[in-house]
Amino acid sequence: MNLRVPSLRHEAGDQLAALCKAGGDPLRLNVLRALANDSFGVLELAQIFAIGQSGMSHHLKVLAQAGLVATRREGNAVFYRRALPHAETLGGALHAALLEEVDALTLPADVQGRIAAVHAQRATASHDFFSRVAEKFQAQQDLIAGLPQYRDSVLALLEALSFAPGATALEVGPGDGGFLPELARRFSRVWALDNSPAMLELARLRCTEAGLGNVELILADALNDDVAAADCVVLNMVLHHFAAPAEALKRLARLVKTGGSLLITELCSHNQSWAREACGDLWLGFEQDDLARWADAAGLTPGESLYIGLRNGFQIQVRHFAKPAADDRLTHR
Ligand SMILES: C[S@@+](CC[C@H](N)C(=O)[O-])C[C@H]1O[C@@H](n2cnc3c(N)ncnc32)[C@H](O)[C@@H]1O
Repeated sequence: MNLRVPSLRHEAGDQLAALCKAGGDPLRLNVLRALANDSFGVLELAQIFAIGQSGMSHHLKVLAQAGLVATRREGNAVFYRRALPHAETLGGALHAALLEEVDALTLPADVQGRIAAVHAQRATASHDFFSRVAEKFQAQQDLIAGLPQYRDSVLALLEALSFAPGATALEVGPGDGGFLPELARRFSRVWALDNSPAMLELARLRCTEAGLGNVELILADALNDDVAAADCVVLNMVLHHFAAPAEALKRLARLVKTGGSLLITELCSHNQSWAREACGDLWLGFEQDDLARWADAAGLTPGESLYIGLRNGFQIQVRHFAKPAADDRLTHR
């Protein structure tokens, strides 16, 4: 009788073993949990899990060898994020199942507290920046991309969405308020929300100069304070100042009324790390797929997108995401 013994190729076995080994440690599972919606540098992860940097580097290396984490270089800094499973590759099903189980874990309270501390450090850096630069805001903006370079594209998307009369808008992070006259013309009421008193003062001057009677300026943090929902929420060049952008999208989605829209203007991913110092950016732009994935997780569906290439090499993405009724979303899946 000719018995055929199933042969497991050595490298294939190695790959599966690396995956099992990486998943066989509670700390590494918690690192994967922490990376569910965020990316962190090795120092941040060491701080979050209260272990030394070299210990954390070792764990990240094991996770990376198993294909469970990937790195993204942001200028001089390297951020770790979860790698996406590929169902068709060896170990893909195991990888996907592992992440599903990991997502059901609750991180210990002290770890959650230290994640909040890392986010707070990032947010403070961004907030301090805008309190310092108000008087030279325009020049600072123009270093990368100013409103004139994306205004028409945002307006084109707004026009295409043809909001009903009486619709309301919320602009998060209006800066010096340059886009508020456009919103005031198109919506019955506009709320402009900024957490920097200095920036809000610039916006106030602009509204007074332009005689905008239907704009209300609010000093508040878009991510932490209570804000009423609007039919259209606009963020121009703001997301890269948020400590945890994927989480932020979930929060922003709640500020959009059902049937309404979220418009995001952002830089595409770039490697000009000077933007951190010069423009207070926490993130060097975003991958288009990341924005789409985070929006999906926030219950939004992608609409039109426009892309603008600038002469200085930066690229801008203007993205529309709709907030469908929960039932609509189920039928479109
Ligand atoms: C780069 S400026 C963009 C200004 C304007 N949208 C533009 O396109 O010119 C970012 C703005 O977002 C504001 N901002 C940053 N984080 C915020 C937060 N968590 N809540 C509200 N506003 C925030 C800043 O104070 C600043 O006014």
